[in-house]
Amino acid sequence: MYSINLEEQISIACNKYQIDTKGLDQAFYKRLFDNISTVGHLFASIYEHHAAGVEKLIALIDLLVLVYKERSNTLKEKDAHKLAQGNWVLSNQIVGMSLYVDRFCGDLKGLPSKLDYLKELGVNFLHLMPVFESPEGESDGGYAVADFRKVEERFGTMEDLRDVQQHMQEENMYLMIDIVLNHTSHHHEWAKKARSGDATYQDYFYMFSDRYLPDQFDQTMPEIFPESAPGNFSYVPECNKWVMSVFHHYQWDLNYTNPAVFNDMLLNIFFYANLGVDILRVDAPAFIWKQLGTTCQNLPQAHTLLRLIKQCVNISTPGMALLGEAIVAPKEIMKYFGTDEFTAKECDVAYNATQMALQWDALATADTRVMLAAQHELLQKPFGTTWITYTRCHDDIGLGYDDSMITAAGYHPYHHRKFLKDYYSGNHELSDATGALFSVNPKTQDARISGTLASLCGLEKAIRYNDVLAIQQSISKIILMQAQTMFLGGIPMLYYGDEVGYTNDYTYQNDSGKSYDNRWMHRPMIHWDKNQRIHIENTVEQKIFLAVQKLIQLRKKLFLFGDYKNITWVTPHNIHVAGFIRAYDNKRVYCLFNYNKQASYITWYLFKEHGYAPAVLFDHWTGAKHKVGLDHEYFIMEPYQFCILEAVDYSVRS
Ligand code: GLC
Repeated sequence: MYSINLEEQISIACNKYQIDTKGLDQAFYKRLFDNISTVGHLFASIYEHHAAGVEKLIALIDLLVLVYKERSNTLKEKDAHKLAQGNWVLSNQIVGMSLYVDRFCGDLKGLPSKLDYLKELGVNFLHLMPVFESPEGESDGGYAVADFRKVEERFGTMEDLRDVQQHMQEENMYLMIDIVLNHTSHHHEWAKKARSGDATYQDYFYMFSDRYLPDQFDQTMPEIFPESAPGNFSYVPECNKWVMSVFHHYQWDLNYTNPAVFNDMLLNIFFYANLGVDILRVDAPAFIWKQLGTTCQNLPQAHTLLRLIKQCVNISTPGMALLGEAIVAPKEIMKYFGTDEFTAKECDVAYNATQMALQWDALATADTRVMLAAQHELLQKPFGTTWITYTRCHDDIGLGYDDSMITAAGYHPYHHRKFLKDYYSGNHELSDATGALFSVNPKTQDARISGTLASLCGLEKAIRYNDVLAIQQSISKIILMQAQTMFLGGIPMLYYGDEVGYTNDYTYQNDSGKSYDNRWMHRPMIHWDKNQRIHIENTVEQKIFLAVQKLIQLRKKLFLFGDYKNITWVTPHNIHVAGFIRAYDNKRVYCLFNYNKQASYITWYLFKEHGYAPAVLFDHWTGAKHKVGLDHEYFIMEPYQFCILEAVDYSVRS
């Protein structure tokens, strides 16, 4: 630990920025005072042996005070409100959508006029895909950022972004944007300076004069895009060096062993916080620490850095929650919520990527046992943290759950994954899905899956063959998938276009800046005449839209759909049906999802386990009431049906 007096540094900074420590700013001062030793500790555990460590820690304390000072009064009031609410991200009232501004509505100026559409659907939380400067053709959908504080011209200006935030705030909508923490574009100012030979900025990246270390790193680092970007290093001819570029050659990995990088990126994080961001999506946090001889993913220091960020945010801009976009193995995902004394003190939110993939698994196999085998792991999530629950996003679907979960269901992991890949890429005779394999690794045959929700659920094929029954079936599948994410617990995040059933868009193949990346097939251009068809009776668009709208209304209606560690998975009486109970106080709702193409039978006994014996169940989805039958009789679920059954009349069994 450093030998500097942290309290003295607090006083210096508070005096400098005229903080009213006994009056208006008292709550901030207390947060700063209470948490500064943890900040110091975390910082030192990474940078203790760095020559600039002390200087940068002092600068960090200054920054914490400055950022608070510059935060608007409105945002400070929102902070206080969220703190008073406590764990606001757990609420059943939040439903999100992730969208590309340009593909959804042209530019930022066009967004406010679309808020009514989103409100009609019930969405009150938006994830705007990256809008900051990013070179055309070498952009990775905006995840190669050349300037973290300048909006890319075709999206508009910083003013337009502020305007969007303002409009959303007035409508009580929450905003999420990304901080791309792991890398910058090779056109970022730091990268340009590094390229021109500036040693200070070369130290912002992992740069090497020869292949000696890169070759060693490559031995243990997996490849993220093995087809389009093999290897983890790129040659930079201007300075005759090799730079680490884990994703694409134009995305240079930042070197967080350098405290200057940490402080500069923290400043960018705070820039977004003071813009009014409610949840910050920390892109690819698993990758931010590198160490020779490891995969360079999920390393303990990556967690330390995230905890440090969380502490800093809690002090200066506490209303902003952190989402860790860690799409890694289930056991590893859980660690992003924090462990040991940092339990629930790292990321507030993480993607439930395991559950998402397992729903796709169940849909293809009609077997929910692998999904069930994963739950013991997922239920470890600490109270106070939550998931993003989703069926699709802008990225591929990875089958990254554990082999042990597959074997627990009696399948062979390799063959099981092969079946799923064949099924969703449309290479299986039983499949009605239209998708594609993404990033096939020729060495391991690993691959992920691309395709929209609708196409993977069979709508594209059904429309192609004008098959009315198949269209109806694919809609049932779409709604089933959405329903499970809506009631599972966590913030449901819809993906734009899915609310009206957009199928794959193949135009990316004609664009050389995109054709190497088939994730673009599920990043549609919104055609508003299609979306307006929600107002035309019986269209596919209307059927899906109204169903999603109804799901959202139902989620918002029942408090128990908030994420209060109030979920119990039911005993699997039928392998085709996934089921859980959501409960709060004396209310309980049985949520059942039939992943079978045929009707599924469930013994009524299912409802009588766990010490309760309901006599009547009310289905919130259909409005039907069911009298609970005898143990040896059956409740019958239609193909791809789901039920949200509230016990309206029950007694506790003695
Ligand atoms: C995240 C993004 C993905 C991007 C990658 C690199 O995983 O979701 O789209 O390619 O980070 O920034």
